[in-house]
This record gives sequence, structure tokens and C-alpha cells, in this order.
Amino acid sequence: MRAVDIIIQKRDKRELSREEIEFFIHGFVAGQIPDYQAAAFAMAVLLNGMTPAETTALTLAMAHSGQTLDLSQVVDIAVDKHSSGGVGDKTSISVMPMVAACGLPVGKMSGRGLGFTGGTLDKLESVPGYRCDLTTEEFKKQLKEKGIVLTGQSLDLAPADGKLYALRDVTGTVPSMPLIASSIMSKKIAAGAQAIVLDVKVGLGAFMQTLEEARVLADLMMDIGRLAGRKTVALLSDMNQPLGSAVGNALEMVEAIELLRGRAPRDYYEHCLHVAAHLLVLGGRAKNLQEGREMAQRSIEDGGALEKLRVLIQAQGGDVAYIDDIGRFERAKFIETVKSPRSGFVSQVHARLVGEAAAALGAGRAKKGDPIDRAVGFLIHKKVGDKVEAGEPLFEIHANDEKKLAEARTNVLSAYRFSDEFVPPLPLFYG
Ligand code: URA
Repeated sequence: MRAVDIIIQKRDKRELSREEIEFFIHGFVAGQIPDYQAAAFAMAVLLNGMTPAETTALTLAMAHSGQTLDLSQVVDIAVDKHSSGGVGDKTSISVMPMVAACGLPVGKMSGRGLGFTGGTLDKLESVPGYRCDLTTEEFKKQLKEKGIVLTGQSLDLAPADGKLYALRDVTGTVPSMPLIASSIMSKKIAAGAQAIVLDVKVGLGAFMQTLEEARVLADLMMDIGRLAGRKTVALLSDMNQPLGSAVGNALEMVEAIELLRGRAPRDYYEHCLHVAAHLLVLGGRAKNLQEGREMAQRSIEDGGALEKLRVLIQAQGGDVAYIDDIGRFERAKFIETVKSPRSGFVSQVHARLVGEAAAALGAGRAKKGDPIDRAVGFLIHKKVGDKVEAGEPLFEIHANDEKKLAEARTNVLSAYRFSDEFVPPLPLFYG
């Protein structure tokens, strides 16, 4: 078998066999298939799609491209959550401590920013010292002892996804249903999750723009989960506008911490309660969603969730002083409040445009391995449905470069649309 023939076959819209997919993935991980061929393969998949059988084969090949964790000796049930990627989505950083504080251990392997979307690891690393490179042994030990882990893909778990993810980010091959499904599910399977909550984003700032596409992705991932013997729930959540207020790594980290102090934008708070409730039900700690929601709420009110975040940060080498004093986070040199050009109701805050503007400020990567600027981004003050007067603060820009700041002002203003008529707020979930 030759890698080039497999690429040609996908280019020509022919179905690949399980053996061909396994050959390609194993060769890529072993370094026998170079990045440029893997990038061509990813582009062929993006353009021509994959059948469910191919996607399942790709997922399992990636899941078994390294070690797989068996957590049955570590915790009674290993739960995990994963988002399909969005703008301002710092859910894991708040939800994992909430759930862990309710007595449900959570161990999660997260990703870095991808395309115009942010990544949990990049946000966590705005706390100096925080390690995202735990080994498998460290992962297990921390999960058992602390009940919470939030790390990157260790080199030995689903390494095929780790390599392919970084390549996709810089080759325009992110928004592909089979590549997203296999990327997410391979990580979850390899990391030993027995119960998984999938947060499938839909809308202008998601890889899936329509509810129909998002449902297909959700069903595909649930099928793969079932096939691999994992309890899987998928939520369809709104990503037409950024979630919460903060977009950008350190700004989002601060918002995630503030949520655990009971100070967060309503949409982000409600979103987190709902995801946490599902995790608590799936993990057998809550009888139903209402009970799960109340438990999650209590974990914020009694400080348990914030304490769990401290435990997490400390366990992974981060400076806990940042959690207690958010004033320590790196601040951008230039901070500008942009005012509304008109009165009316906000009818759109285009999430992708905001995400792209944040990446252009330096919050994301243009090519593999690029450094990112953790301090830059936006605070979105007015969201869809909000009434606004001309001259009222609309959003805030955090930038380290004046020219980029000016571009960001124009770009984020162009993400806004207004209406003279009342506009209802966007729903948080579609199903
Ligand atoms: N999240 C992932 O882990 N992978 C993707 O491809 C998209 C979102």
C-alpha cells in the first residue's frame, strides 16, 4: 500500500477500506507518512466526505494509534465532555470543577485553538506554570487522588489526532464532519471515558452552521460512542454569537474563574449549569437534570467548585495566586471601549467574525507551532436581544498593537447588526 494511492482514492471520491485507513494513520504516527501527505489526505476528506463506516474506522484507528487508558480501576465511572469548538467557549474550565465538587471525578484531554475557535489548553496556560503535558501515569494518579484532570493529549494517547489536529488548524481542513467526529471521539475513547457529554455547537461561529448539519455530526458521534460501548449524550448549543462576554485566552480564563465566584454573564452561567447537570446524570450522581442543576448551582454557592479549580491548578503546577487574584493575569497594552454607533436592539454578533478578529489580534495561530498572545481579545458587552443606546459601550478591545487594534475595531463592529424592532435573545440549546 502507498499513501499517495490512498489520497488519490479519496480525491476521486472512492470509499476507503478499514485496512487502508489503518495503514495511513499508523504510517502518519510512525513518521513514515509526512505532514504534506496527511494534509492532502485531510483536504480530500474535507472535500469529499466519508461514509459512516469510514469515519468509524478512522476514529478507531486514531483511538488505537497509541495507548488507551482503562480507568475502571481508577474511578467508578469516568465521565468526560467535549465541545465541537466555538468562540468564547470556556465551558470546560468552569464545568469540570463544578462536577468534581459534586463528587464526580472528571479527567479530560482538551485541545488547543483550532481555526477561529479558542482552545481550552491555551486558556489554561495563561496561568503561569500550568502543565498541559501530563503523562498517562500522571493523569491516572491525579484523577484518583484529586478527582480532576484537565490536560492536553499526552503523546501516548491518540497521537494520530494530536498530529492531525495541529495540521488541520493551519491547512484549512477543520470544518469537516468526519474529521471533527473522529478527532473528538478518538480522544474520548483513548482517554477511557465511559460516559461522554458532547457539546455540539451550531451557528455562525461553529464548524456546523445549520441545525441539520449539527444533528448529523451529533448522531455520528453518538453512533461511534455506542459502538465503542460508551454512554454518550449530545447537546446542540447555540454558537451564532460568542458564549458569555470574554473572547481571548486570559480574558476567558478570568471569566471562567469569575463564574465559579457567581459572577458571570447569564448565558454562560446557564450553559454551564446545563452541561454540568447532564454530566452529573450520566455519571450517576444526580437522579435527573433538575437535581443535577441544583447540585451544580450549590457547588458555586458553597465555594466547592472554586476550591476544585484551585486543586486542579495546583496539581498541574499552576500558580494558584492567579485564581485568588485575577488582577495578576497578563493585561494587554491597549484597552479600548467601542461605543454603539446607533440605538436599537442588537440582532447579531457574528461569532465567526469575532473569533477571526481575536485570532488576528494574536489570540490564535496562523501556522503550526506559532506563539499566541494570551492577553489579547474582546469583552462583548452587548449581545443579541439587548437594547442599546447610541454611544453606549458595545465591546472592549484588548490589544498589544495599535494597528491591529484599529483593524479589530472595524472587524468587530462589522460583526454587529441592529434592528429598530424588539429582537428576542438567542436560545442557548436547540436540543
Ligand atoms: N474539537 C476537536 O477535538 N476536534 C475537532 O476537530 C474539532 C473540535
